[in-house]
Amino acid sequence: MANVELTLDDVKQIIDEPEHLEWISFCGNYGEPIVAKECIDIIEWLAEVSPAEFRMHTNGSARNEEWWWDFCKRLHGVPIIINFGIDGITQAKHELYRRNTDLQKIFDNAELLIGAGFEVEWDYLVFKHNQDDIETAKKMSDEKGFSKINIISTERFWSKDALEYDWKGEKYKLERSTHKPNKKQLMRINNPVVNQINCFAQERQEVYIDCRGYITPCCYLGMYLYSSQQNQDGKFHSQQELIGIFRSMNLDRLKGNLNEVVQDPFFSWLRGKHLELQPKRCQAVCGTEINRKLYNE
Ligand SMILES: C[S@@+](CC[C@H](N)C(=O)[O-])C[C@H]1O[C@@H](n2cnc3c(N)ncnc32)[C@H](O)[C@@H]1O
Ligand code: SF4
Repeated sequence: MANVELTLDDVKQIIDEPEHLEWISFCGNYGEPIVAKECIDIIEWLAEVSPAEFRMHTNGSARNEEWWWDFCKRLHGVPIIINFGIDGITQAKHELYRRNTDLQKIFDNAELLIGAGFEVEWDYLVFKHNQDDIETAKKMSDEKGFSKINIISTERFWSKDALEYDWKGEKYKLERSTHKPNKKQLMRINNPVVNQINCFAQERQEVYIDCRGYITPCCYLGMYLYSSQQNQDGKFHSQQELIGIFRSMNLDRLKGNLNEVVQDPFFSWLRGKHLELQPKRCQAVCGTEINRKLYNE
């Protein structure tokens, strides 16, 4: 995967009417927002010129204390919630999913932010290996001053129950949690049957801007725009369909100034497709009754 990021100048080119933005989330998608060299500059500028509230999802480990101090000093008073991805209460459990991250460093960074008055949430993805520690994690979250712990299911096993990977010459396995989500919270991966697509991006007037500046309604689509340019064909029909759609387009249309790109016919074409319950990816993500990712408390 290429190492690409937006600079502050790029962001200024894309967002020329920041005063109209209400909410900006640095979600990471395939990446990690704090790795971007101008991450703090970008948030600082956006906070100056827009009334938006911010959220940032981070692994919390990619930067040292000095960087976080700079973050605290420069963004003091900015309405930002920072979500730290911490998927275990011990280094061994946490790193089974999050390789190359240091649990102690993450807690230290989170506590530094909390001490400086920032609102920090703990995102805990549930796998089989960490499902029995949820109560302890909740207690730790309170003790450390996180404002909230989000216990989150993962749909990324797709139809499988386990995923294997190699790390430093060893084989590891991540297994699906045996906890049942209480409602239909997972995306419908296999042949969803839906009556309606409620496009959250349309409803909230949201867009997703990727690390190269391509603009799509949401990251669930944007990730396949990326795949379409990376020689990836997708395993499932819903993925192949979207990759095909993006490959058949001149993607330059989806890059540039935000106000202009959202008027591109792609956006109205997609709204029309939703009325026909297409594309399948949108069915899976925004078909009625689904896409609630949180387990019940
Ligand atoms: C992919 S991450 C990227 C941002 C950052 N690098 C991180 O690790 O949080 C964006 C969001 O996806 C969530 N996420 C990561 N892996 C996931 C998984 N397997 N299933 C569901 N959500 C996941 C994270 O908790 C985070 O809220
Ligand atoms: S997945 Fe499709 S329907 Fe859902 S927000 Fe994205 S574009 Fe809209």
